[in-house]
Amino acid sequence: MKTRWYKDAVFYQIYPRSFCDSNGDGIGDIRGIISKLDYLKELGVNAVWLSPVYKSPNFDNGYDISNYREINPEFGTMEDFKEMLDGMHERGIKLVMDLVVNHSSDEHYWFQESKKSKDNPYRDYYIWRKGRGKNGKKPPNNWTSRFTGNAWTYDETTEEWYLHLFTKKQPDLNWDNPKVRQEVVDICNFWFEMGVDGFRCDVITYISKAEGLPDGKGLPILRGDEHFVLGPNIHKYLNEINQKSWSKYDTLIVGEAIGTTHKEAQSIIAEDRNELDSAITFELVQVDFKWDFLPLKFNLKKFKAVQAGWQNLPQNCFPTLYYENHDQPRSITRYGNGFGIYRKELGKMLAVSYFMLRGTPYVYQGQEIGMTNIYLKEEEYIDVMARQVFGTMRKVFPPLMPFARWAMSKRARDHARTPMQWSAAPGAGFTDGTPWMKINPNHGDINVHAEMKNSNSIWHFYKKLIEFRKNNEIIRDGEYIDHAPNNKSIFCFERKLGDVRYVVICNFKEKTVAFNDVYKIGAKGAKLIISNYDNAQNEILGDGITLKPYEVAVFEYGNSASKRII
Ligand code: GLC
Ligand code: CA
Repeated sequence: MKTRWYKDAVFYQIYPRSFCDSNGDGIGDIRGIISKLDYLKELGVNAVWLSPVYKSPNFDNGYDISNYREINPEFGTMEDFKEMLDGMHERGIKLVMDLVVNHSSDEHYWFQESKKSKDNPYRDYYIWRKGRGKNGKKPPNNWTSRFTGNAWTYDETTEEWYLHLFTKKQPDLNWDNPKVRQEVVDICNFWFEMGVDGFRCDVITYISKAEGLPDGKGLPILRGDEHFVLGPNIHKYLNEINQKSWSKYDTLIVGEAIGTTHKEAQSIIAEDRNELDSAITFELVQVDFKWDFLPLKFNLKKFKAVQAGWQNLPQNCFPTLYYENHDQPRSITRYGNGFGIYRKELGKMLAVSYFMLRGTPYVYQGQEIGMTNIYLKEEEYIDVMARQVFGTMRKVFPPLMPFARWAMSKRARDHARTPMQWSAAPGAGFTDGTPWMKINPNHGDINVHAEMKNSNSIWHFYKKLIEFRKNNEIIRDGEYIDHAPNNKSIFCFERKLGDVRYVVICNFKEKTVAFNDVYKIGAKGAKLIISNYDNAQNEILGDGITLKPYEVAVFEYGNSASKRII
């Protein structure tokens, strides 16, 4: 059944709230997406990952689902959804939805029932425990929520606590209950029958908790991981859903593998295991962050080591490639000086630096035009993660508030969630009304309209790169060789299949850098095929190469017909 179409796909991630508002209420919606389908087609992507559009009280913007079979009215109707899905399919674009089933919303019917009494038929859909201490007024264990604070909330009605690894409005589902697993199967099949092509499974590595829910070790930050990341029954559960649902359709199932490395993720993505098809780990995005909120200095050597780890996995593991999503700051601000005069060169270099790797690349909305982080005052952050970090810091240690503000200026999820910049108009072409979230004031300069008009823009570069990548066997199947793992400025790697070799050289510095080791690669005479500078060196000569600020060059070796395509 499985054609593994995702190996030739380029994904575009839509965060619906911020993509395009069709009715002026300031919130992006499905009809807004429909109005942009031709845009996606023109960019050339052939798959979309759509962040949640299900019914939700939006405490975590849709990652708290209160009905898995309904569309949130602010996004539109089921009719709109079907029209969007058909519109994508007509344009050769697959649709992968978000599946958030580690937890539901506390407003889901299941939880509403579950909390009513200890013998309610839905009681065991969630994880309820007696408290510790004399009156049971202490949480059952010391696990902490991923957004800071305790992972348990006490409920008066039955005088027990329920587990929530995220906010208290996101109670964890009890996967040890076979009925819960059957619900997940039914939900998946419901959407597959409608024509949906796959799921991105939210925090799927958390679903199996250790027997007895033992205390975690270490500091009260993300505490308890060792008891639920790839927990005892994870393989059994994934395998079961795979058999009963995922493998019956031509799907892509990609898991958000929070808390795991490429080595560990292998156990859930290797093709013969029949669990997931691929995984989104946090290894790369944690090179410059600890615990998700503490910024560290960017270290290119570590970054390359992570990439190499993924690239060198056995052929039966297919990586996911991404720099951005709705939880990550903008790559152009993060990996370089996205506000500087070399913004355009930087955006293009970053694109090549991951598009030439083996795996399925994801482009997050706005990345294709080089959208940047935003400057926000403390009260302007609206995402629950930043709010909880500020709240906890104020409570625990107020003198460190300036530090928390600094950390959030780099790390908050708000940076990714500012509305899509379609034009220089007051609502950025995103809305005619008042946007649900502040629009980045730089939309006057950075917007789709301007980017599409300028043939030398980041947008056109992405378009050509997407085209180049499609059905390119060297990129899909070729061997990976890191030629300069210890270089602190240059990321230089090779992709090789048969006699043809691509040598990719990326300068991660905003200054001219000499790379003297080119001769060691033994690709003298290789021809330039991709570059972000007009007057670039068009052939590998015997010696070194000097790269301009954020310059990227892809040389091809072993093909007499090589010519520059970008
Ligand atoms: C994932 C989502 C994130 C959400 C969390 C809880 O990490 O990407 O946005 O807050 O899961 O569902
Ligand atoms: Ca709207």
